Amino acid sequence: MNLADTEIVLGILKKQGYDVTDNPENADVVLLNTCSIRDNAEQRIYGRIGNLKTLKQNNPDLVLGILGCMAERLRKDLVEDKKVVDLVVGPDEYRRLPEYIDVAFNGDKGIGVKLSRTETYDDIEPHREDGLNAWISVMRGCDKFCTFCVVPFTRGRERSRSLQSIVTELENLSARGFKDVTLLGQNVNSYLDEESKNNWDFADLLSASAKVDRTMRIRFSTSHPQDISVKLLYTITEHPNLCNYIHLPVQSGSNRILDLMNRTYTVEHYLNLIEKAKKIIPGVSFSTDIISGFPTETWEDHFATIEVMKRVRYDGAYMFKYSPREGTKAFKMEDDVAEEIKSKRLQEIVDLQQQISLEKNQEMIGKEEIILVEGFSKKSNQYIAGRTDTNKMVIVPIDNKIKNSDYIKVKINRATSGTLFGDYLSHIDIEKQGIALTA
Ligand code: 5AD
Ligand code: SF4
Repeated sequence: MNLADTEIVLGILKKQGYDVTDNPENADVVLLNTCSIRDNAEQRIYGRIGNLKTLKQNNPDLVLGILGCMAERLRKDLVEDKKVVDLVVGPDEYRRLPEYIDVAFNGDKGIGVKLSRTETYDDIEPHREDGLNAWISVMRGCDKFCTFCVVPFTRGRERSRSLQSIVTELENLSARGFKDVTLLGQNVNSYLDEESKNNWDFADLLSASAKVDRTMRIRFSTSHPQDISVKLLYTITEHPNLCNYIHLPVQSGSNRILDLMNRTYTVEHYLNLIEKAKKIIPGVSFSTDIISGFPTETWEDHFATIEVMKRVRYDGAYMFKYSPREGTKAFKMEDDVAEEIKSKRLQEIVDLQQQISLEKNQEMIGKEEIILVEGFSKKSNQYIAGRTDTNKMVIVPIDNKIKNSDYIKVKINRATSGTLFGDYLSHIDIEKQGIALTA
């Protein structure tokens, strides 16, 4: 989300004549886009600001600014008290960033931290380097108010872009050769194009997106287990280029904890949904988010989470220790799970996921997969790397027939928990075979 926002910011600034430099020493303006989701994200930013202070000492005219979710929180501390930054601009005020930079150049502090009920940057063309992968932010904000989460406070209320503007952006990406596009929102299932008479929902948006370019894979993130619809599951099956991959954060396997988190679903509902999706979308795979050590979490609650992981067998998971965030409801609860217990539980969750990922990947040995070739593998230019429809990286020996952005069929011959290895079989005729089919 922040990377997508940074591209929007670059789009706005480039239009004003700004350009990017690789060398901070040459910069007139240095902007840090910040995240507040957990304390360690915030601590990293404090570290970065500390490093940048030297740049400012060497160049007193430098404008140093903070963007994103920490803006409101940092305003007092960094602008008014410590006076180390010249500019703080929150996620809904990027349109006015050039004005705030001018204010800062004139020696005042540029401060724009208001949230908006309507800003979606619908008409802003994000600045993207050429490539195969892109993000499109389709909605902003979140109305869910999970008790642990700061997003509704830092990013404000839910609002969606128009379906037409997203389709136009996809057309532009297609013309530039992008092949793998992720539609982004905090809760994409709340997507609603209220401007159109038809009130297009997220399934409609996916359908329209899939039709733009049949050779472009479309992914999406993040789905909330309460809002994801059966219509959406069927839509995924209707278009071969909609990836059979759903990121569906569970957060906890305990109903008591889910209730305290205000997640508004039960484990039974969640597992039922997973079963439904598996039936409707053959070969679908899932990833999730898990929080360990939420206030009052017992070992029993923790084992319930472990149980859900074993039942679903996720392809991947983002796993976190609970981090109290000021302003949230959970912040008022006592953070009563000791640090070493949080760590121990998290480690068990991480180890289990690693084992499941390894087993799932090894089950793929001997199978045929279709990958989009993205370039040389990170480790060696004797191998190319490409991703499957379900987002797994496959490494294949180079072959002069294979070029970047080709869809090729490969046979998996080896697997670790993070990577698959395979042999080239053939190129794919996308029009005929569809790119999401596993050979
Ligand atoms: N502590 C730990 N993890 C959190 N997340 C959100 N807020 C917190 C928090 N306070 C995690 C959730 C969410 C993901 C984006 O970050 O798992 O799905
Ligand atoms: Fe945060 Fe996601 Fe819950 Fe929204 S749905 S409050 S973004 S965890």
